[in-house]
Amino acid sequence: MIQYSGSAMEGHHVKLLLAFLSLGSVVVFSATDPNDLDILNQFRKGLENPELLEWPENGDDPCGNPRWNHVFCSGNRVNQIQVQNLGLKGPLPQNFNKLSMLTNLGLQRNQFSGPLPSFSGLSSLRWAYLDFNNFSSIPADFFVGLDALEVLALDGNNLNFTTGWMFPHELANSAQILNITCVRCNLVGPLPDFLGSLSSLSVLLLSGNSLSGEIPASFNGTVLKMLWLNDQIGGGMTGPIDVLTTMESLTELWLHGNQFTGTIPDSIGKLTSLKNLNLNTNKLVGLIPDSLANMELDNLDLSNNHLMGPIPKFKATNVTYNSNSFCQSTPGLLCSPEVMALIDFLGGLDYPSRLVSQWSGNDFCQGPWFGLSCIDGKVSIINLPKLNLNGTLSPSVAKLDSLRQIRLQDNDLGGPVPENWTSLRSLTLLDLSGNNIAPPLPSFASSVKVVTEGNALLSGNSSATTPSTGNRPSSGGSGSPPTGSHSSTNGTSVQPNNQAKGSKRSSLVPIVAPVASVAVAAALLIIPLSIYCCKKSRNTLQAPSSLVIHPRDPSDSDNMVKIAVANNTNGSNSTVTGSRSGSIISSGMGESHVIEAGNLVISVQVLQNATKNFASENELGRGGFGVVYKGELDDGTKLAVKRMEAGVISNKALDEFQAEIAVLSKVRHRHLVSLLGYSIEGNERILVYEYMPQGALSKHLFHWKTFKLEPLSWKRRLNIALDVARGMEYLHSLAHQSFIHRDLKSSNILLGDDFRAKVSDFGLVKLAPDGEKSVVTRLAGTFGYLAPEYAVTGKITTKADVFSFGVVLMELLTGMMALDEDRPEETQYLAAWFWHIKSDEKKLMAAIDPSLDIKEETFGSIYTIAELAGHCTGREPSQRPDMGHAVNVLAPLVEKWKPLDDDTEEYSGIDYSLPLTQMVKGWQEAEGKDSSYMDLQDSKGSIPARPTGFADSFTSADGR
Ligand SMILES: *[C@@H]1O[C@H](CO)[C@@H](O)[C@H](O)[C@H]1NC(C)=O
Ligand SMILES: *[C@@H]1O[C@H](CO)[C@@H](O)[C@H](O)[C@H]1NC(C)=O
Ligand SMILES: *[C@@H]1O[C@H](CO)[C@@H](O)[C@H](O)[C@H]1NC(C)=O
Ligand SMILES: *[C@@H]1O[C@H](CO)[C@@H](O)[C@H](O)[C@H]1NC(C)=O
Repeated sequence: MIQYSGSAMEGHHVKLLLAFLSLGSVVVFSATDPNDLDILNQFRKGLENPELLEWPENGDDPCGNPRWNHVFCSGNRVNQIQVQNLGLKGPLPQNFNKLSMLTNLGLQRNQFSGPLPSFSGLSSLRWAYLDFNNFSSIPADFFVGLDALEVLALDGNNLNFTTGWMFPHELANSAQILNITCVRCNLVGPLPDFLGSLSSLSVLLLSGNSLSGEIPASFNGTVLKMLWLNDQIGGGMTGPIDVLTTMESLTELWLHGNQFTGTIPDSIGKLTSLKNLNLNTNKLVGLIPDSLANMELDNLDLSNNHLMGPIPKFKATNVTYNSNSFCQSTPGLLCSPEVMALIDFLGGLDYPSRLVSQWSGNDFCQGPWFGLSCIDGKVSIINLPKLNLNGTLSPSVAKLDSLRQIRLQDNDLGGPVPENWTSLRSLTLLDLSGNNIAPPLPSFASSVKVVTEGNALLSGNSSATTPSTGNRPSSGGSGSPPTGSHSSTNGTSVQPNNQAKGSKRSSLVPIVAPVASVAVAAALLIIPLSIYCCKKSRNTLQAPSSLVIHPRDPSDSDNMVKIAVANNTNGSNSTVTGSRSGSIISSGMGESHVIEAGNLVISVQVLQNATKNFASENELGRGGFGVVYKGELDDGTKLAVKRMEAGVISNKALDEFQAEIAVLSKVRHRHLVSLLGYSIEGNERILVYEYMPQGALSKHLFHWKTFKLEPLSWKRRLNIALDVARGMEYLHSLAHQSFIHRDLKSSNILLGDDFRAKVSDFGLVKLAPDGEKSVVTRLAGTFGYLAPEYAVTGKITTKADVFSFGVVLMELLTGMMALDEDRPEETQYLAAWFWHIKSDEKKLMAAIDPSLDIKEETFGSIYTIAELAGHCTGREPSQRPDMGHAVNVLAPLVEKWKPLDDDTEEYSGIDYSLPLTQMVKGWQEAEGKDSSYMDLQDSKGSIPARPTGFADSFTSADGR
C-alpha cells in the first residue's frame, strides 16, 4: 500500500502549502517540474535494467496523464517513488535530494548499489525505505535537514564496509521519527546518546552490527516499543540492563548475543506490555527475580548466561533457560540452604565471573566448585585468595556453620566483617589480609585465627585475635609480609594449626592441599595462556548444550560407532545422575547404535592415571567446554583428554542426542579428528581423542615465535588447506547426511607430526536440512569467522562453513588472526580488510605473511588462494562455492608439490588423495558394488548433497 499524506505540512510548512496550492492550480495543465523530470531521467539512465520500470521512452511528463509507473505526484512535483522489489540494479543519481518535494521513497529490496546520495534538505521526506539493497556508503551529511522523517530503513546494506559508521548527530533533528531500522548495516561503536532523546521513537532495530559500549542513560523512560540490539559482532554491547526496565512501552526486547552484565533487575516486572524478551548469550548473573517469572510473556529466552539459584515456575508461554548455573534443573525446586548462602556470598562479591560459571548445581561437594572444599558433604573451606574479588562480605556465610576456614586474602574486599560470622562454630581461620576491610572487626572466639594485615582501615587494630605463632599459612616463613606480597603458594604448605583441636585438624591437611594447589596451578596457568584463552572466551559464543559426535578415522581398527555426550548445561541430574556409562546412553535410546558405543567407555581412573590426575603440566588448552589434557596410556598410546566443566546432562541434551545420534554416528574421515572413547562417571564428562602432536594450526600461524616453532612453509599451508577442505567436503556432502560444523577456525584445525591437518571440535555440529534450505539455530561459533547472514539471522547452511574456511585461507596467506582488536581499526576484521586489498596486486603481496619465503613459482598459487578466499567469503551464501569446488582448486596446487611429499595416503583401500569421484569409483571397484554412483563423475564436478545409498557404500567400505 502506498503511503501518502499531506498532513505533515503544518507549522512553517503552511506557507509552502499555500504556495504549492496556488502553483498547483496553474499546473494542472502543465508538465512535470523540469528539474524533477531531469532527476528521474538520470535515475533511469544510471540503471542497468531500466526497462523494468516500464517508463515511456522519451516521455517527458511523469506526473501527467497517464502517470509514469511507480511515480506519484502532487501537482507537478514528484512526491513518491515506489519501486520496491523490482530487481533494479545500479546507482542513484548523486543529486537525488533535488527531488525536494519527496515525501515517500520506497526503494527497498532491489540491488541498488554504489554510494547513497545525500538526502540533505529533503525536508518533506517522511518515509525512506532503502533497506535490502547493496548501497556501499552513506555520506556524512545524509541526515541534514530531514525534518519530517518518520521512518528510516537501511537494513541489509553493507554501508562503509571497511570502517563502519554511526548515525550522525543531525538525525537528532528528525524529531518525529518513529522507526529506525538498520539491521546488519555495519554500524560500529557505542550508541549515541541522542537516540534515547528522540521522543517519538518507537522502533529501533539494530541487530547484527558491531555495536559496543553500554546502553546510554538517555534511554531512561523512552517510549520505545521494539528494541533489537542482538547479535553484535566483535564482542558486543556491555554493561548493565537496568535502564531498560524504565522503558514501559516495550513489547519486544532482544538483547541476545552481547556481553551485558549484572543482574536482571527486579524492576523488569514494570514492563507490563512486554511480550518477547530474549537475553540469550550474555553475561547476566544472579537469581531470576520473581517479577520476571510472573510476567506473562510469549517468549522468554535466558539461555547461556550465568544465572544462578533455583529455576522459578515461569508464567511465560515459551521459556528457554539452558546453559546457566542453576542449582536445579526442574522449575520450582529450591536450592539447598547452603547453596543459597553461597550464592548470597557471591552476590556480595558482585558475582565474579570466574566463579559464577563454576558454582552451579546443588552439590557443592561435587564438580567444579572452584575454591570450596568439603568434609562429609558440608562446606569446610572457602579458599579464594588473589582473585581480584571486590564487594563486601555477606552475612549469609554465617549459615554455613560447618566452615572451618575462610581464606580471602589478597583481594579487594571492602566493608566490615559481618558480626554474625562470629557464630561460625567450627571456624578456625579467617584470612582477610591484603584487602580493604572496614572496622569494626567483630570479636571472634580465641579458637579463631583472624588475619587482617594489610587492611589500611583496620591498621592500628590488633591484626590477629590469636597470638601469632608464625604458622600463618604463608610461604617462606617470612613473618608478616606487607600488603599484597602474601604468596598464594600457601596452598601447598598449609600446616596444621598446632594450637587447635588436633584430631580433626590433621584430617584437614590432605584435603586442603590438593584443592589449594589446584587453585594455585589454575591461577598460574592463566598467565601464560591469557593471550589465548581470554581472546577466545571473549570472542566465542558457546552452544548451550551439544552433542559432540566424533568422526572416526577409517584407519582405526575398531569399527564401533564413536559417540559421546558433551554437555555444558547445568542443573539436571534428575534423569542421569547415578547412571553408569553406557547405560546412560542406552536408557531411553532403544536399540540403535548406542549399545555398541559401550565398548568405548574408559574409566575415569584410567584417565586420571594417563594424565597424572589431570596435572596442569599436561594441559594442552582450554575451550568452551573444558580443559584438554595430554595423556599417555601404559602401552604408550598418546591421548588428548577433554574434561568437561560442570557436566550434568539435561533431558534436552539427551533428546537431541537421541534425535541426531543415528545420522551423526556416520561421520568419520581421515581429515576429521577421531574420538577414542569417553567417560561418564558421577559428574565427570570426559572425551578422549587421538592426540595430534603438533597442536593447533593457530599456534603455528600466530604464535610460532612464542613457542619457538618454525613458521609453516607455503607448501605445508597448501596441504593443510586441502586437508581441511577435504574434511569439510566430507562433512557437508559425503557423509550419510549433510552436516554443518559451525565453528571452523584455525584453533580447531589440528596438525599431526607430518603437518597434515584434521578438523576437530564437533561440539557445534548441526544436521543440515535438505537441499539449499537453511536451518535457524542459536548463534554459535567464533567472531571473525562467522558468515554475515548467520551472525545476523541465525540461519545457517553449509555455506557458513565455507565462509569460515575462506577466513582460514586468509589466515594462511597473511599470518594474521581472523579478528584482532589490537590491530588498527581497518584491519581488525581480517575478512573485511582482505576483501578490500585482495584485488590490488601490490597490496596483496604486501599482506602476505612475512615469515613466508615467497619465490616466483609460488606467486601463482598465492593468487589462486587469495581468489579462492575471496570467493568463499562472498557476502551472499549463494555467491560462495561449495567445498567440493575448494578441493578442486586446491588439489592441483598441492599436486605440484607432490614430489616433495610423497606419502600415498592409503587408508583401508581408500586413497584420500584422489579426487572424490575417483575415490568413489575406487570403493565401488573394491567392494564390487554396482555402478549407481558412476553418474557422479559426470555431474559437472558437483556432488549431490545426499546421494541415496552412498552412506551404505561408505559404511561397508569402511566397516570392512
Ligand atoms: C562513509 O564513508 C564515506 C567515504 O567512503 C565517508 O565520506 C562518509 O563520511 C562515511 N559516512 C559516515 C556516516 O561516516
Ligand atoms: C515500524 O516498524 C515496525 C516493526 O518493524 C513495523 O511493524 C511497522 O510497519 C513500521 N512502520 C512503518 C511505517 O514502516
Ligand atoms: C531513570 O530516571 C529516573 C528519574 O530521573 C531515576 O530515578 C532512575 O534512577 C533512572 N533509572 C535508571 C535505571 O537509570
Ligand atoms: C520458543 O523460544 C525459542 C528460543 O527463543 C525459539 O527458538 C522458539 O522458536 C520459540 N517457540 C515458539 C513456539 O515461539
